[in-house]
Amino acid sequence: MLGHQNGTVRTQGAMELDSASEAMWVDVIRRMDEVYSELLRNEADLERKNAELEEAQTFISSVIASVSDVLIACSADGRIKKVNPAFLKLTGHEEKAVLGSRIFGYLAERDRPQAERLIAAGHQGNVMEGDLHLIAADGREECLAIRCAALFDAGRRRIGAVLTGRPISELKQAYEALHRAHMNLQQAQRRLIEQEKMASLGRLVAGVAHELNNPISFVYGNIYTLDRYRKNLIFYLDAIHRGETPERLAELRKSLKIDAITADVGSLLEGTLEGANRVSDIVKNLRRLSFSKAGERQTVDVGRLLRNSAHLAAKAKNAQAEIVIDSDPDLVIEGHEGQLHQVVVNLIDNALHAVEGRDGARVQLAARRLDQAIEISVADNGPGIAEKDMGKIFEPFFTTKAVGEGTGLGLWISFTIIEDFGGTITAGRSKDGGAEFRIVLPAAEGRS
Ligand SMILES: Nc1ncnc2c1ncn2[C@@H]1O[C@H](COP(=O)(O)OP(=O)(O)OP(=O)(O)O)[C@@H](O)[C@H]1O
Ligand SMILES: [Mg+2]
Repeated sequence: MLGHQNGTVRTQGAMELDSASEAMWVDVIRRMDEVYSELLRNEADLERKNAELEEAQTFISSVIASVSDVLIACSADGRIKKVNPAFLKLTGHEEKAVLGSRIFGYLAERDRPQAERLIAAGHQGNVMEGDLHLIAADGREECLAIRCAALFDAGRRRIGAVLTGRPISELKQAYEALHRAHMNLQQAQRRLIEQEKMASLGRLVAGVAHELNNPISFVYGNIYTLDRYRKNLIFYLDAIHRGETPERLAELRKSLKIDAITADVGSLLEGTLEGANRVSDIVKNLRRLSFSKAGERQTVDVGRLLRNSAHLAAKAKNAQAEIVIDSDPDLVIEGHEGQLHQVVVNLIDNALHAVEGRDGARVQLAARRLDQAIEISVADNGPGIAEKDMGKIFEPFFTTKAVGEGTGLGLWISFTIIEDFGGTITAGRSKDGGAEFRIVLPAAEGRS
């Protein structure tokens, strides 16, 4: 700034001083400007951060509010720092009253040691789980499945524990109801299995009765004939002992058919013996089937198993189908003969049902050795199993038979028995387009 001031002419030095102070002022003003604009910038920054913070807080609050599980943050000695609305709703308390109070006041008395253990574990940085009973607003105890973890402060220091709890009273009730239903179902299932066992026993008894009927009836017939022969022979012998004339004796010998009787007696006795042997064989078979206990293992002759099963199944059903058995000799498996018999009879029974009334109805049983295993197959030339049913036939109660004709348990029981003996049972299509069931069982060790 040059020129006059206060009416005086200024010296050179004064003029230099003036310009220096002017530059200083300019600098001060510029700095003030800078500080002011930085202040403005900081304020805007602060406002933005505030807005972000508020948003984050709203977000966290709304997340916590929407959590249906109970959430409690507390210090290591159980003093509550924060709870979520689910806790307040369940206990019926105001947040103000809860904060700062101790958690144990909201729990069933007996739960205190467990709560202390959970909080201590959480505080030490371990995650621990357990049940606690919270006193609900209506006074009842609500069982919570609690998970406890560490609570951190801003410096990542552990300052307490966070407990999250899911009410499981309803879940427990539902579980108990489910358990009861399951038990009832199991009981019903056991009853049905017993019924099915009784039904297969019935089938077996029918087969045996039919089987015994034959030899017993011809033993009876033979004995009746032998008795008639005995009368004639005694009559003839009496005549000899009385000293009848040779003519009279010749006449009697002819009329009493003595020659025919003596010729016939041998075969009659043979037939009777055969009948008695047959009865004895059947009884032996039955004893073998029934005397071994379930779960007990015996060596079972596969050929005999197939023959006996075919025999009984056919007799019980009075089947017209041809049953062919094609078994390699000397095959032996380990199992329970009665149960394996039940399986094979079930399969033959199904096959006979499938071919019933068909021309050329045929059921083919086969057994052969595969490495360390024995394969038994039952095939028929019936209609086969529908593709849609293939996945279901081994399920309990699945049946395509009319109501009252089948329980649908036959294959399921067979499956269970074969699995018990370490084998497999599968279904497929036979070469004649019918069904074919294959059982693979381990061969008995050192045999066959
Ligand atoms: N040889 C077969 N040919 C065609 N379908 C079969 C054959 N074997 C089984 N099935 C099918 O599998 C179903 C289930 O058989 P499963 O033996 O378990 O019960 P079921 O024979 O119906 O009844 P139950 O054995 O109590 O008499 C049968 O209803 C049938 O649909
Ligand atoms: Mg069946």
